[in-house]
Amino acid sequence: MSYALSFTATAADALWIEAADAAEALVAGEPDGIANMANVAALIWQAIPDLNWAGFYRFDGAELVLGPFQGKAACIRIPLDKGVCGAAARLRASQRVDDVHAFPGHIACDAASRSELVVPIVAHDRLVGVLDLDSPVPGRFTADDQVGAEVLIARIAAALAE
Ligand code: SME
Repeated sequence: MSYALSFTATAADALWIEAADAAEALVAGEPDGIANMANVAALIWQAIPDLNWAGFYRFDGAELVLGPFQGKAACIRIPLDKGVCGAAARLRASQRVDDVHAFPGHIACDAASRSELVVPIVAHDRLVGVLDLDSPVPGRFTADDQVGAEVLIARIAAALAE
């Protein structure tokens, strides 16, 4: 008996694989986590369509602090019990929000944001921070985008941690 495995790669998969390959190359050999976050924020901003904010918040041991990003100026400190970012950091689980207005406690940094994807960054079992992506398009982020972003972050998490 033979088994056929079927796998359909989506356009989002391809974009994220390409972005993850590029991100890994960008951080290779560079130990400075902030410099690496800056380049990866710029890369995602260029590579992934329909974003109005792309960047990082860093965990300082107590709360999230604004890190390198692209987009409009944003709120600087986010407690772990606040917002989509706080939930991702606290639960160490990605938060994919189709309608930010329906998310209790959502923090509106840019009024244009309608949907959001936040992926926690964990390296050596330590919370480093979160990757935050905002879009002006409702329901912009699919399950494929979530997996794509999670794989990208998993591949470079150690290089964001220093
Ligand atoms: N919307 C986020 C805050 C960060 S900004 O979107 C850049 C939140 O609710 O955590």
